[in-house]
Amino acid sequence: MASRSEFSVVAEGLTKRYGRGDDGKKALDGFDLAVRRGTVCGLLGPNGAGKTTSVRILATLLRADGGRAEVAGFDVRREPRKVRRRIGMTGQAAAVDEILSARQNLRMFGRLFHLDHATAARRAEELLDAFSLRAAADKQVKTYSGGMKRRLDLAASMILAPEVLFLDEPTTGLDPRGRVEVWEAVRGLTALGTTVLLTTHYLDEADKLSDRVVLIDQGRKVTEDTPAGLKRAVGGDRIEVVVSDPADLPTAVKAVARVTRGVGPETDEERLSVHAPVSDGVAALTDVARALQEAGAGVEDIGLRRPTLDEVFLRLTGKGTEE
Ligand SMILES: Nc1ncnc2c1ncn2[C@@H]1O[C@H](COP(=O)(O)OP(=O)(O)OP(=O)(O)O)[C@@H](O)[C@H]1O
Ligand SMILES: [Mg+2]
Repeated sequence: MASRSEFSVVAEGLTKRYGRGDDGKKALDGFDLAVRRGTVCGLLGPNGAGKTTSVRILATLLRADGGRAEVAGFDVRREPRKVRRRIGMTGQAAAVDEILSARQNLRMFGRLFHLDHATAARRAEELLDAFSLRAAADKQVKTYSGGMKRRLDLAASMILAPEVLFLDEPTTGLDPRGRVEVWEAVRGLTALGTTVLLTTHYLDEADKLSDRVVLIDQGRKVTEDTPAGLKRAVGGDRIEVVVSDPADLPTAVKAVARVTRGVGPETDEERLSVHAPVSDGVAALTDVARALQEAGAGVEDIGLRRPTLDEVFLRLTGKGTEE
């Protein structure tokens, strides 16, 4: 087991089966994890991969069948109360009261966590600032945008300044602006020294927030790396050209081959597309577009594509996220 002082979250060989007997599918099948103190770990995986199950086990809400885990230095099975006192958790559904204001909600949560009046009030003011909610502090929560509600939910989970915070899909269902607001709030948390374990479906979210990303699939860790390392592993940007006439495919292959990093372009004859990894995407686009024009090829579409979660999985597991 990794050292307690260095890692705030450690899991070794966690297993969990929901159904009884052999027909119960394994939700976790030997899941390992180690999150360094004060960092953000993104747990990225497709539907049903085991993200929520592992978070619930680490947060002491669910018992693992096998393996062991320590959070904030305490064994989740043997000392769940000590763990609970040191963690915060937000799920998808906000726990805040819509009729109250943000300030009232935060004070109420403070009192629920047994802070005295003065301390609860002071903590509420700190959190209103930390989560940029001061301007709307006295408005009823039901008038807030989705992003504001999620920020208030995060603030509420931070009342006791937990050592470890579990965020299960903190931006699912939010519009792009709401997502950015939550991302900023999460960055604010890490500035306070909190260790964050965040689950997400979105590669871009894991990319923006995480120090390290753990890919999970079928209850096991597939790989772990920095966001940059993960993107390098899947080849970064790809240029894609779609031609209008199959006869132009060889021309497109030749044009794309000019800009690729020694990796031969791949052709999809059904879609009439040619694609290949590139390092300087914009320069490659210009170059390829010019070459195609000079050759007189009919171009249906040309563009840059970032690797999607699906492609990351495909590259690393040999199968897509839908299987
Ligand atoms: N209460 C339950 N009873 C039975 N099976 C469950 C239960 N909760 C989860 N499962 C199953 O366990 C597996 C892992 O589920 P889990 O919710 O941990 O995945 P997830 O990665 O959080 O998925 P999502 O991205 O959809 O939230 C899935 O096959 C799921 O169907
Ligand atoms: Mg889930």
